[in-house]
Amino acid sequence: MIKPGLEGIEVAESSICYIDGKRGYLAYRGHPITNLAQKCDYETICYLLLFGKFPKKKEQNSFKQTLRKQQSLPPSIIKVMRCFPKKTNTMAVLRTAISTLSLYDKDMNALERNKLEKKAISTIAKLPLLIAAWHRIKQGKSVEPPNRKQSIAWNFLYLYTGKKPTQEEEKLFDTCLLLHAEHGFNASTFSSRVTVATLSDYYSGIVSAIGTLKGPLHGGANQKVLAMLKEIGLNATKTKVDAFVKKCLKTKRLIMGIGHRVYKVKDPRAKILESYIHELGWKDNRYKILKRIEELMEQEKGLYPNVDFFSGLVYSKLGIAPEDFPPVFAAARISGWSAHILEQLGDNRLIRPLSKYVGKKRLTL
Ligand code: COA
Repeated sequence: MIKPGLEGIEVAESSICYIDGKRGYLAYRGHPITNLAQKCDYETICYLLLFGKFPKKKEQNSFKQTLRKQQSLPPSIIKVMRCFPKKTNTMAVLRTAISTLSLYDKDMNALERNKLEKKAISTIAKLPLLIAAWHRIKQGKSVEPPNRKQSIAWNFLYLYTGKKPTQEEEKLFDTCLLLHAEHGFNASTFSSRVTVATLSDYYSGIVSAIGTLKGPLHGGANQKVLAMLKEIGLNATKTKVDAFVKKCLKTKRLIMGIGHRVYKVKDPRAKILESYIHELGWKDNRYKILKRIEELMEQEKGLYPNVDFFSGLVYSKLGIAPEDFPPVFAAARISGWSAHILEQLGDNRLIRPLSKYVGKKRLTL
């Protein structure tokens, strides 16, 4: 029997991520996301995802040092990026930039585990820099060098906004990276696995994943949530919000940030992000509008917020422009994609499903 969109089909074994969509439970390598968000930083999560276990103290320090040292871009990449049209989609820039970056790896095609780990660590460190660099280039500003003693979260905010982040901002962005790092066989991860399963190369896997994440049904939803808020009106009253939702439901227009293929309850990551919004006292009218939408969608359709529902609000408070929300999602998910590429190639089999042919048969010319 055909399952459109592969819904509910298990296509491989994996020990990276566990999701219970009915309970709203998510765990990386067996550790519940709620504990990880409270007790860990994103860089430690990268280690956990790539190597399958928590690092010992010494391993953790040495891993962080290695990762942070990789925070640099070949100057030619910046030169190439300066030639890109300024008014283009940032995900398209990122996809092209990663592809270009691969040309500077002399051992681009290597598929041995130790070499893949090195590529992963280097790309996890570099991808956020590419986003920040593009943001500066677009504005005709200089691209500053990162401080390689600082975390990935700190450097991204510093290089992107041009201001040193506060500890609170760094922690918040670090948690956003951690929450978006991994999510099982989602569309972009699956496409990265399909690509490397042909024994192509690590970078092609990441390029496929970025292209897949770009779509509004996947990583592009966070940006669309903010666009939706703008459309409703940032100062909209409850009546206006109600009318907007009613019209969307009547016309079958999707409300972005709502619904999920796997979660049938509120996404646990949305709950964690919302708790930060509360903690920081960011309950402005945009938040109130979102809460009203949430209430109505639960009542009317039994649908709940996914991670993208609140992430855009958090990113905009951190000074990130809406067109860069999907790339920021990629800056986090690169660690999950890398873990899946390692897992796929550890026990590889070409991914090649069948289709049921429903076209015409035995035609004559
Ligand atoms: N707004 C309004 N209605 C929605 C909806 C949304 N965001 N998401 C799902 N629905 C409705 C569908 O129209 C359908 O209604 P129907 O049964 O009356 O026809 C029903 O809920 C089932 O939806 P379906 O499209 O089968 O769910 P799916 O598993 O294929 O889709 C998503 C999951 C995520 C693609 C979908 O919920 C969506 O497009 N959400 C908005 C985009 C988004 O936030 N993406 C980020 C995902 S992390």
